[in-house]
Amino acid sequence: MLKNKNIILGVCGSIAAYKSAFLVRLLVKAGANIKVILTPDGANFITPLTLATLSKNPVYTQYFDEETGVWSNHVELGLWADLILIAPISANTLAKLATGICDNLLTAVYLSAKCPVYVAPAMDLDMWKHETTQTNIHQIQSFGNLIIEPGDGELASGLYGAGRMAEPEEIISFLDHAIKHSMPLYGKKVMVTAGPTYEAIDPVRFIGNHSSGKMGFALADELARLGASVTLIAGPTAQKENQILTRIDILSAQEMLNACTSIFSEMDITIMCAAVADYRPKVIANQKIKKQADSLVLELEKTVDILATLGKSKKANQILVGFALETHDEENYAKGKLAQKNLDMVVLNSLNDKGAGFKSDTNKITIFNKALECTVFEMKSKTAVAKDICTAILKILK
Ligand code: C5P
Repeated sequence: MLKNKNIILGVCGSIAAYKSAFLVRLLVKAGANIKVILTPDGANFITPLTLATLSKNPVYTQYFDEETGVWSNHVELGLWADLILIAPISANTLAKLATGICDNLLTAVYLSAKCPVYVAPAMDLDMWKHETTQTNIHQIQSFGNLIIEPGDGELASGLYGAGRMAEPEEIISFLDHAIKHSMPLYGKKVMVTAGPTYEAIDPVRFIGNHSSGKMGFALADELARLGASVTLIAGPTAQKENQILTRIDILSAQEMLNACTSIFSEMDITIMCAAVADYRPKVIANQKIKKQADSLVLELEKTVDILATLGKSKKANQILVGFALETHDEENYAKGKLAQKNLDMVVLNSLNDKGAGFKSDTNKITIFNKALECTVFEMKSKTAVAKDICTAILKILK
């Protein structure tokens, strides 16, 4: 969950600051990009050099470095962050966050940021129990900040009780859990089909099509990025997934049908992006067909329409999305498919639009929903198109 996340780690004046070094190490190991901001008092407990070495980034301590003249832009830092973690947060900085006092770089970045903020308090037990501290905790919680509760144990003062900063491993799993649960598609099972199908003529030849699978793979990646548990059913394609997902490789329309129907009932959302063959050879020759007569007639039979089959067994709480690639009378065909195949949404792309459809890295789509409302999109990269399709699905889910 933390991979490639931009994280600002604030470190305040507390003996627990020694744990911040381990924390930085774990965050870096998890693949996050870390920038550390030390409060003036925090720098008394742990050196910028330690944290800069571990985070592989310069450590920020003040707005303005008198020696170099470098100005640390708090707004830029705040907007860079995907999340801010203040660990340890002292009673003093807690009070500042609760009241809006902004007298150092960390508090200025906090006020400038729009991202989620997590704080891990560390202080002596009576300071933690004090009504002022508890009021401040409730206050910053009411602003939407998340508290990583301190643990019980022996404190630096020699006293025993609550106030020890959570252990670095606990902080990492808290972040992991919180990020997972904040993802819009967390807990949703999604199936995506992608690419072409190959229908065998003999052991050597097949009937296929030009689908590259790029759109389906972009969709599967975006859905996984939004937290969904994705099963990608892929026809023969050179595409590779970038996110963690379950991939089932198939060759023919029949294999795709078998794969889809075996898991469809468990799915919350199904998006059929594959270019499935509509016809296949009625008989597959056991041996390579020899070149003999001047012409050769192949008898074809219809494949099963997988999307329509799923549409028939769709339950009310399932979302089913189809694609329509048309060359003429696009809108009417797209609308027709919505009703005929019992879909919640159809994504139309026309081969008349340059840069749309097969093989290209771009696509130009129009989305029709069940109420037949249509949204026309500009030509975009397939990654951006995938985001638009997911936004439309999220609207249905609301
Ligand atoms: O009716 P048409 O083939 O144009 O519909 C296209 C949509 O139906 C796409 O979503 C495609 O993935 C799906 N389809 C299917 N099984 C077929 C043919 C198309 O699921 N045999």
